[in-house]
Formats: sequence, structure tokens, C-alpha cells
Amino acid sequence: MNFHPEEKWIDWVDQLSEHDFVVIDEFITNDLYLQLRNFLTKKLDQDAFERAGIGSILNNTLDTTIRGDFTHWIDKARDKEISVVFDLIEEVKLTLNRLCYLSLSGYEFHLAYYPEGTFYKRHVDQFKERSNRMISMIIYLNEGWKKGDGGELKIFRENDELIIDPIARRCVMFKSAEVPHEVMQTNVGRYSLTGWLLYQPSGVGFVLG
Ligand code: OGA
Ligand code: MN
Repeated sequence: MNFHPEEKWIDWVDQLSEHDFVVIDEFITNDLYLQLRNFLTKKLDQDAFERAGIGSILNNTLDTTIRGDFTHWIDKARDKEISVVFDLIEEVKLTLNRLCYLSLSGYEFHLAYYPEGTFYKRHVDQFKERSNRMISMIIYLNEGWKKGDGGELKIFRENDELIIDPIARRCVMFKSAEVPHEVMQTNVGRYSLTGWLLYQPSGVGFVLG
């Protein structure tokens, strides 16, 4: 079962190839959105988030002048209550392989929480010593986001910058190696599911780098 019809995928993949990124509104159903929000709330209550670092696991440092978010990595084998999310990620992976001739073979996703006043300065998503992140994918989980709440995603291009509002159920995908971007300072708690489609499964990439 697919979540999205082929003609929509063809359009999104065209945009991704042409502009290196695509923004898709209402990418997840309201039902899936509520499942994710419930899961997020539970994990926040359980204190299951950790301050995010910069660099890969091999070379991880904490620097709140660069990024101030907290993350919780999700796991298909453990997190059965959000199994539909993993089905959706699988659809994205298989469809990009088919339509873009990629060989994506794995993924890694976390929930992200930016407390009020935090941001993530300009960066690209590939690590120097581990370059297997191919496509970045973010689904925003901000109920009732409005102008002034901040936390917009800024995408830097050669001649201009694009500002993308982090509204609930919106998905952004971009080429991890190509697109410099930042999370602007948020004035309220900011939530997302963020992840990467990988060329090699997570872990193997450390060795093959
Ligand atoms: C990241 C990132 C963007 C966003 O986690 O690497 O850039 O809009 N996130 O949350
Ligand atoms: Mn990023």
C-alpha cells in the first residue's frame, strides 16, 4: 500500500532534481500526525531527549552557539506504536530509488525539539568523515504555527535565500550534500521528525566513510 500516488511522486521528484529540494504540504495524514504528536509528548514526558551535538558519533561535540535542539532517535524494532511512520519512510526510500536511480539502503530518523530561543546555524547535513547521508527529510509537528513563532527553515541558494515555515504536516526533502540551510531562532517550542536516507546502512558508513 502506498501513501501517495505515482503522479504526485513524479512531480515531487522533478522538483527535487531540478531545485535540490522540495516542500510538500499535508505530506502525512491527520491520523499519522496525531500518532506522531502523541509519541512525541510521551517521549518528552519520559525525558527521552538528549542535547544534540555536531559531527558524527565518532567526532561529536556539544556547542549551543551552533545548535540548541534536543533529539530522540526512533527505532523500527522498538517503536511499534509508530510503525506506520516506518512504512512511510520505506515508501520514500523505494520511490526515490526507483524514480531517481538512487541506491538508498537505509535511514536514520529522530524527533527534534528546539526549546524557545534556540536555533541551528547554517550548515550542510553531510559529515566530513562519514558521507552517506543522501537525502534529508523533515516533517514538521508544530500545531497552529503562526508568523512570529520563528523557527523557520532558511535555505541558502546562490543568489537568494528561501524561508520555509515549519507548519504541521509539511515535509521538506533536500539533497544532504548540496543544500546549506539553517533553523532560525524559534520563539516557541519547535517540533519535527527529521531524518536522512542513507547510501549505506547507518553504522557501516562509519567504516566505509
Ligand atoms: C537538521 C536540520 C532543519 C529543520 O536537523 O540538521 O537542519 O527545519 N533541521 O528542522
Ligand atoms: Mn540540517
